[in-house]
Amino acid sequence: MANKNRLSSGSKYKVKRVHYCVLLALLVSLCVLGIVFHGRKISYFFRPLWDNPPKPFTRIPHYYAENVTMDHLCHLHGWSLRSHPRRFFDAIIFSNELDMLDIRWHELQPYVSKFIILESNTTFTGIPKPHYFELNRERFAFAKEKTVHGTFPGKLAVQGSYEDPFLLEGRQRAAMNSLIRRAGISNGDILIMADTDEIPSPQTLKLLQWCDGIPPLMHLELKHYMYSYEFPVDYSSWRATAHVYSQHTQYRHSRQTDLMLADAGWHCSFCFRKMWEFVFKMTAYSHADRVRYKSFLSHSRIQDIICRGDDLFDMLPEEYTFKDIIKKMGSIPPSASAVHLPAYLIQNAHNFKFLLPGGCLRETQTPP
Ligand SMILES: *[C@@H]1O[C@H](CO)[C@@H](O)[C@H](O)[C@H]1NC(C)=O
Ligand SMILES: *[C@@H]1O[C@H](CO)[C@@H](O)[C@H](O)[C@H]1NC(C)=O
Repeated sequence: MANKNRLSSGSKYKVKRVHYCVLLALLVSLCVLGIVFHGRKISYFFRPLWDNPPKPFTRIPHYYAENVTMDHLCHLHGWSLRSHPRRFFDAIIFSNELDMLDIRWHELQPYVSKFIILESNTTFTGIPKPHYFELNRERFAFAKEKTVHGTFPGKLAVQGSYEDPFLLEGRQRAAMNSLIRRAGISNGDILIMADTDEIPSPQTLKLLQWCDGIPPLMHLELKHYMYSYEFPVDYSSWRATAHVYSQHTQYRHSRQTDLMLADAGWHCSFCFRKMWEFVFKMTAYSHADRVRYKSFLSHSRIQDIICRGDDLFDMLPEEYTFKDIIKKMGSIPPSASAVHLPAYLIQNAHNFKFLLPGGCLRETQTPP
């Protein structure tokens, strides 16, 4: 009897042990699956351990209010008023952001001498693309006299290996240098280097044009928005720069100095009207490797993400402390403010509903 009992309790242990083994195997395989599918997320979460934050910028306080004289504004910045404004040149590399270009050029038009725009027949990732600006020239006829347009021959991606998108981007920026010279720029003129969706505010331009004593090179701190001006993210956008032009000025879109003018405009990322433009940008963009699954490009998925203010690439915020990562995780809270936005956008609000509060639904036509 006792013997029998011992036997049965022994086999009970065995059964339990088998359960534990199965459970353990399951857990391990779940972990492995998790790492395989979310490896990038996990490594982003641990960024504070493997990456150092870039050196912080020295921010120049920016003063502005309606109806304050330029003389007073210049002096508040420690600068002085000029007798005549500097000429102003705006140089961008264009992909397909037609609506942003429309807003940018209308907003900057009163101040700009020349709009310099370069476009390529391939994307940074080597996919052929039309010259979207050329195809839509009539929409930009209002700036015809000021437009200096150039095209850049792209390189097609060869099966399995394409040129490093950042290298291609570099060659394209070199082509930009000669286009800028062709536009007739002179020493002492102001040159803005930015992406189409990085729009400096008119008061920033006036300050640059009218004040003597400004630094010859400043980054522009732009308020960063995602999908529309309904989703303000933070003030993290810093790549745009303002230069007092000299022979040594080189077109770049990276860190060039420690100085940055605070609150200098707007940067609206992925602010597209139509669904195909999102898909195009997601595959065209220098970080196209972030499209890890085909399903990322599904229209219904993209639409849901735009309305929730979530991340198109299912990534974690690129921050350098755990506190900042956790603070920024999850959806961007929507804003109901359309105050202090580009004037052309507000004047034409009926035509730009998708950029304003409550307008997250996108059109789903196919490309032109
Ligand atoms: C700004 O100045 C204009 C004309 O000088 C005046 O009509 C307007 O009322 C002023 N606005 C404010 C907010 O002071
Ligand atoms: C891009 O333009 C260049 C120069 O016009 C041409 O040689 C090349 O074939 C074009 N590439 C594509 C993908 O259309």
